[in-house]
Amino acid sequence: VQGGPLAGRHAVVTSGPTHEPIDPVRYIANRSSGAQGRAIAEALRDLGARVTFVTGPASVAPPDGVKVVQVETAREMRDAVDSALPADIAVMAAAVADWRVTNAADHKMKKDGSGQPPALEMTENPDILAWVSRLGLKRPELVVGFAAETDDVVENATAKRRRKGCDWIVANDVSPDSGVMGGQHNAVTVIRDSGAQMWPRMPKGDVARRLAQEISEALQ
Ligand code: C5P
Repeated sequence: VQGGPLAGRHAVVTSGPTHEPIDPVRYIANRSSGAQGRAIAEALRDLGARVTFVTGPASVAPPDGVKVVQVETAREMRDAVDSALPADIAVMAAAVADWRVTNAADHKMKKDGSGQPPALEMTENPDILAWVSRLGLKRPELVVGFAAETDDVVENATAKRRRKGCDWIVANDVSPDSGVMGGQHNAVTVIRDSGAQMWPRMPKGDVARRLAQEISEALQ
């Protein structure tokens, strides 16, 4: 696309899960197909933005026409976002693992016959959204986070927006009966300074296009 309302703008989009190794063959991860993140990257690209797409091991393929950076862990994702800056727009759609295993083994752990399972010690991962939101001069003009909630969606997401320091939060209900996880549709509430706006249930591609449109209007 030549031109477009986001021509000359750089957007960083994180997507997919992160994998946090337990040993060389095992890991801890969040559930995430990467479908919503990919759709957002495509929609921003289609409005003319240059997009850096930082993705964990997702089940959907990355889009064409964007710079793809493949990572595995939260720390690699944070470093990849850091390397991609400066950016005008950051959309953090990844399902980042909150914790990593402190005592990850460098060889495959084996049952030792004692019947005692290994104890996993955990360390908190860097919060990429909170970190990018609080960058000084390097902070993108618009930082958008996601909130996957199972209850009290608006209240929790509003508190999350304040805590993380991002401009917008796109909140969705991921309770098991919502069908959002791994599905084609999403029902989101967008939380900004001006308040919460509930969007009707629509395909993830439509959520992405509307979000990209509103991002481009906010940057005009
Ligand atoms: O705290 P919670 O994981 O619910 O926040 C979700 C939002 O924060 C998402 O936008 C996600 O991409 C981002 N996040 C992050 N780094 C983390 C945890 C979450 O960027 N370590």
